[in-house]
Amino acid sequence: MSTSEIMEQINASIDFDKRLAFEDIEGSKAHATMLAKQGIISKGDCAKILSGLTKVWEEIRSEKFVYSAALEDIHMNIEARLKEIVGEPAGRLHTARSRNDQVATDFKLYIRGQIDGFNGELAGLQLELARKAESYSDVIMPGFTHLQPAQPVTFGHHLLAYVEMLGRDRSRFADARKRLNECPLGAAALAGTSFPIDRNQTAQALEFDRPTANSLDSVSDRDFVLEMLSVATICAMHLSRFAEELVLWTTPQYSFVTLSDQFTTGSSIMPQKRNPDAAELVRAKVGRIAGAFQSLVIVMKGLPLAYSKDMQEDKEVAFDAIDSLKLAVAAMRGMVVDLEPVRENMEEAAGSGFSTATDLADWLVRELKMPFRDAHHVTGRLVAEAEKRQCELSDLPLELMQAVEPRISKGVFSVLSVSSSVRSRRSYGGTAPQRVKNSAKKWLRRLEKEGLSV
Ligand code: ARG
Repeated sequence: MSTSEIMEQINASIDFDKRLAFEDIEGSKAHATMLAKQGIISKGDCAKILSGLTKVWEEIRSEKFVYSAALEDIHMNIEARLKEIVGEPAGRLHTARSRNDQVATDFKLYIRGQIDGFNGELAGLQLELARKAESYSDVIMPGFTHLQPAQPVTFGHHLLAYVEMLGRDRSRFADARKRLNECPLGAAALAGTSFPIDRNQTAQALEFDRPTANSLDSVSDRDFVLEMLSVATICAMHLSRFAEELVLWTTPQYSFVTLSDQFTTGSSIMPQKRNPDAAELVRAKVGRIAGAFQSLVIVMKGLPLAYSKDMQEDKEVAFDAIDSLKLAVAAMRGMVVDLEPVRENMEEAAGSGFSTATDLADWLVRELKMPFRDAHHVTGRLVAEAEKRQCELSDLPLELMQAVEPRISKGVFSVLSVSSSVRSRRSYGGTAPQRVKNSAKKWLRRLEKEGLSV
């Protein structure tokens, strides 16, 4: 490779920043319109620039546009083509602007659009989870702590836990959007400009809330990318946790849910296998997304103000993270629609591991007015008895229970089944089927209000 080839290869960003074409053209249109309104360029030149930019977009959209690495990036590629189409007026477009404020504006517009996209896609996933939760609000499964059976819960309740997480992810995206939504255009290279520009006008045209307040900050800020990536990382982490549960639940040992072969694959050598590949890949995507955050935060740390070319490295990782999250959300949505609980297996497992021991202790507190700590102790002794006899708590003879605590009556058996256990947990946010049904309905109504058809 010659020196100039090496330089072109390290310097050019066109291979990836071509994704910003639409935003670049919108930004240029707003800028040109403002320049004309302020009398900085003529109305005639502005009209030519605007129609030229529309033509350029048509070429890009229909994939007729020829990109050139010699022209480095999307901004110069578009401007060069505009020059070919409209001639001299194209050269006036870059008045009172620099690629530094241009790229910041383009990338903000792009990230904002992606955030809006995620909001909708996550709402779609919430919808499917809430639907399943409503249908299966009374399916009983083991609730785990330390991955040990702890207390019975309902499947719908488990699904709604993820609806809550995704709700927080959406609100984090919305927060990030608010902070992002200031327009850097007009900061020029770093110091502002001597031309009488109207930054409020361009900010408004591009649907920003206001212009950014400090020109140095405007061109050196990549917080908006980092913030999007950190929210994306948290969201991907949530998906990864659910994906891991699907991997566990579809093993023959658990057999809590089934996934169809739409989202599983067979093995080339073991005919009995059904591998949850999609869930495994969703589980893995968080690595790339968290990696993108790490990558960019390391690029940005220690960069002196204002713009440095290092910042061009913000795009590939962000694009990859965005694509990865989008695919993970879509795959998860598909799996949620596809998955079916195996009621009997879940319910049977829910009864194992003395999962109603807390219900027994609570009964002692309620009926015998025992302090909870004493009740815990008595229950522990009864669990030890059941373990010795290798039976469930509900199979212990009453006399044996009474040998441990004479005041226990046969009423105790009413709380030892898994179904009475979940039904009793009616506290706000608890797992009782009626509560779960209501929460699922509440979410469905909320999503419907947002415009989703439920
Ligand atoms: N391609 C560059 C980037 O992505 C655009 C800004 C270049 N500005 C400059 N002064 N070289 O960051």
